[in-house]
Amino acid sequence: MAMKHYLQFTDLGTDEYAYIFERAALIKKKFKAYEKHHTLADRTLAMIFEKASTRTRVSFEAGMYQLGGSVVHLTTGDSQLGRAEPIDDSAKVISRMVDLVMIRTFGQDKIELFAEHSRVPVINGLTNEFHPCQILADIFTYIEHRGSIAGKTVAWVGDGNNMANTWLQAAELLGFTVHVSTPGGYEVDQAVAGIRSGDSYKVFKNPMDACRGADLVTTDVWTSMGYEAENEARRLAFADWCVDTEMMSAAKADALFMHCLPAHRGEEVEADVIDGPQSVVWDEAENRMHVQKALMEYLLLGKL
Ligand code: CP
Ligand code: NVA
Repeated sequence: MAMKHYLQFTDLGTDEYAYIFERAALIKKKFKAYEKHHTLADRTLAMIFEKASTRTRVSFEAGMYQLGGSVVHLTTGDSQLGRAEPIDDSAKVISRMVDLVMIRTFGQDKIELFAEHSRVPVINGLTNEFHPCQILADIFTYIEHRGSIAGKTVAWVGDGNNMANTWLQAAELLGFTVHVSTPGGYEVDQAVAGIRSGDSYKVFKNPMDACRGADLVTTDVWTSMGYEAENEARRLAFADWCVDTEMMSAAKADALFMHCLPAHRGEEVEADVIDGPQSVVWDEAENRMHVQKALMEYLLLGKL
C-alpha cells in the first residue's frame, strides 16, 4: 500500500472506513477480553503536542503500547519545535527514527508541511481546522449504539470550528446530513471545511430548529484552544447556543448526545443533558483509543 497520511477525514474512502470500523470493533472486543493484540510490535509512534490534551494523549499512548509498540512524547516547550526549528527539518529528522507521527498543532498548513517532508504516515491529532480522529470515534460510537449513520441527521449546535468542519467532511463522504446552527460571525466556511457542495448540510439560525428531528445532537466548547483572546466576545455571542433538555426533546425520541470533551457544563451544554440518559460521551472518549488503534494498524500494515 502506498504511504497514506490521515490529515483530514477525506483522506480515507468509504471502504477504508468500513474496514476500520469493523477492525476497531474486533480490537475493542479483544481489549475487553484481555487478549493480546500485538500487531505493531517494535513500532514507534512519535506524538507531538503543541496544544494541551488529555484524551488524545492517553488514547494514542495507551493504544500504541497495547499494540505492542512504544511512544515518544514531544511538546513545543521541551523540543526544538519551540525554538523555531523549521517544520520540514523536524519532519525529516523525526520520521527517520519512528514509524508513525501524531501531531496536535495550530494551522492545518503546519501538519501538511510536516507530512510533505515525512518518511512515515502522519496523523492529525487536532488542528484549528480539523479533528478527524474524534469524528472517527464519534461515528464508531453512533454505529455501536444505533447502526449505520448513512441517511441520518446530526445537529451541530455551536461554533463553526474544527469539529464542525470535520462533521461536514464526514457527512459528504458517508452520506448523512448535518444541521448546523452557529451564532452570526461563527459560521462554518465551506472552503475551509474542504467540502465539494452544500448538499450534505443545512444552516439554521435557531439552534432549536437545527435539533428538530435529529438522530444525534452534538456540540463543543464555545472557545477552542488557540482562540482564548476571543473568550469574552464568544461568551456573549454563544449564550443561546447551550444544548438543553428542550433542544434534546425537539430531536428524535431516541436521539443521542455527543461532545468531544472537555465540556463546560452551563455553557455549551446543560449538566442534565451531558449527564443524562441520551449522552454517550464516555463511550465516545473510550472509543478514541479503539478506533485509533485500528487506524494506526491500517496506516502501517494495510488491511489484514
Ligand atoms: N476530545 C479531545 O481531543 O480531547 P483532548 O483535548 O483531551 O485530547
Ligand atoms: N474544538 C476544541 C476541541 C477540543 C478537543 C478545540 O479545538 O479546542
